[in-house]
Amino acid sequence: MSSAAPSLNIIVVEDSELDYELLLAMLSREGLKPRTTRVEDEAGMRDSFAKGRVDAVITDHNLPRFDSFASLTVAKSIDADIPVIVLSGEMSEDLAVATLHAGADDFVLKTRMFRIASALQHSLQAANSRREARTAVAALAESEARLRELTQHLERAKEDERRSIAQEIHDDIGGALTALKFELVRFARALPGDSARPQLDAISQLLESAVVASHRIQHSLRPAVLDAGLVAALEWLARGFTERSGIKVDFHANREEFEIAPDRAAALYRVAQEALTNIRKYASAKHVHVQLFALDDEVVLEVADDGQGFETASLQVTPGFGVRGMIERARGLAGWAEVSSSQGRGTTVMFSIPPLPSGSAEKLTRAENR
Ligand SMILES: Nc1ncnc2c1ncn2[C@@H]1O[C@H](COP(=O)(O)OP(=O)(O)OP(=O)(O)O)[C@@H](O)[C@H]1O
Ligand SMILES: [Mg+2]
Repeated sequence: MSSAAPSLNIIVVEDSELDYELLLAMLSREGLKPRTTRVEDEAGMRDSFAKGRVDAVITDHNLPRFDSFASLTVAKSIDADIPVIVLSGEMSEDLAVATLHAGADDFVLKTRMFRIASALQHSLQAANSRREARTAVAALAESEARLRELTQHLERAKEDERRSIAQEIHDDIGGALTALKFELVRFARALPGDSARPQLDAISQLLESAVVASHRIQHSLRPAVLDAGLVAALEWLARGFTERSGIKVDFHANREEFEIAPDRAAALYRVAQEALTNIRKYASAKHVHVQLFALDDEVVLEVADDGQGFETASLQVTPGFGVRGMIERARGLAGWAEVSSSQGRGTTVMFSIPPLPSGSAEKLTRAENR
């Protein structure tokens, strides 16, 4: 230890003055001159901890009113990372193992007291590593929490953006298409004779398909979840998927109506949408089962296909965001998501979230169907 290092504050739990002197002598022989306080019981320990910083505890195993397990408990209850070294007059492997299990950093026999300085130095290093690891874990947890918040925020922003695009398509393009249809009828009436009828019919058909397309785009931008309810929205999604892909979808919900917060209904809908998109892109499936189980404290969505499946280990390295997004969504809503698959045996996506935020008095809409 360098002389520039700040001096150490050590509590020594020891009833024998002689052993205490020997301990100090052994430390001093190795150049360690800590500030030490000798105590004999819990009250003494707590007093010393209350007086200022404590860097380590060296405790005799056997004291008249106390033992090393009790002093370990006191020390760790005050500072979970503090190094504690147990001194024992008795050579017992069982005791050594038991004290290490109880959280001691080292076990030193009084007959081998020359080990104490190096035991202390190693224990201080180990405690430092523990503190650093704890700080790193806490920092990681905090950054994960921030990332989750950001993901939630982005999801909300995306939904808001989609909603406003849908609204603009509805108001501007939808309005213009309706006006065009109206004008076309008037124009047809005003035209003498039937010579332009085939062209007018063709224009009318084109207009009609533009109206249908704009409805479809509006629906996929702003799913009917918030209007007609989650069950109706999932039915609509499944039907549209079959029409476009030719893959048969069976949809089943155990309840037609249940209470669910709008953002959670939207999350379930988006997960189903992504699972179906993945099926169309990758699965070569013939058949898909979509099931929604609404329980009191959990809503579970299951999307299972009979396609070729894949190795889920590849999800660790995939650049895609679909499955990762499902997992993040679930975490952010205090739920869970799982993708199980194996090659040749289809894929199942499970996504489960509580229907309502816990302890929130958030205003709810009822997810009604039909
Ligand atoms: N139903 C499925 N059948 C077969 N493979 C699948 C299925 N779902 C996912 N996969 C595999 O898992 C990978 C990851 O899917 P994920 O949705 O996370 O990413 P992506 O679809 O490639 O990209 P993104 O969703 O960001 O557009 C896919 O590339 C595909 O290999
Ligand atoms: Mg995907």
